[in-house]
Amino acid sequence: MSLDLFDAADCRTAIEIGPDALLLRGFASNTAPALLDALGHILAQAPFRHMVTPGGFRMSVAMTNCGALGWVSDETGYRYVPFDPQTGRAWPSLPAGFAQLARDAASQAGFDGFTPDACLINRYEPGTRLSLHQDRNERDFTQPIVSVSLGVSALFLFGGPRRADKTRRVELHHGDIAVWGGRSRLHYHGVLPIKPGHHAMLGEQRLNLTFRKAG
Ligand code: SIN
Ligand code: FE2
Repeated sequence: MSLDLFDAADCRTAIEIGPDALLLRGFASNTAPALLDALGHILAQAPFRHMVTPGGFRMSVAMTNCGALGWVSDETGYRYVPFDPQTGRAWPSLPAGFAQLARDAASQAGFDGFTPDACLINRYEPGTRLSLHQDRNERDFTQPIVSVSLGVSALFLFGGPRRADKTRRVELHHGDIAVWGGRSRLHYHGVLPIKPGHHAMLGEQRLNLTFRKAG
């Protein structure tokens, strides 16, 4: 199903990718340059790093965080922490424009009052993938996930509540925002290996910002 929720002039549409899950095409297109500018400052304080899974594998996606809480993985498990384990300092704060964009996107998808306290920043290079997983380290599953795509396009897999459930493939382009909550909140999702490509603002890279109410 495809709904025309936006200004026709903007050519922005919402696509249902699951129950209570929408892809908002181009929702962040206009704010992307400002997001990337702010990201430069965040990355200077909390650089990308490859975390290790509890099983001992180095993740191919490079990650960092901003906001009161940051998602980390190491040999002892996955969790949210207020300090960057690499520097011992608080994560860079969540820029007001990031929180507003996430709030607006959530509201557009039917989740009013979303107040994220965590923004996970993922960097993908050609060949990088993210295997099927659930986002379930957050306290309150009534709060949605808001995921912003920037740079090179990706194929997103969106499945069901069980790992073995059939997945739907969705193309994610620069400026797209996926929002899932409600009945889809714990649905499995992942990213297929990124195909080599080029984006005017980000070169070979794809960045993804995942906003969550974690604490
Ligand atoms: C994630 O599930 O954490 C990120 C999804 C994406 O990169 O689109
Ligand atoms: Fe996820």
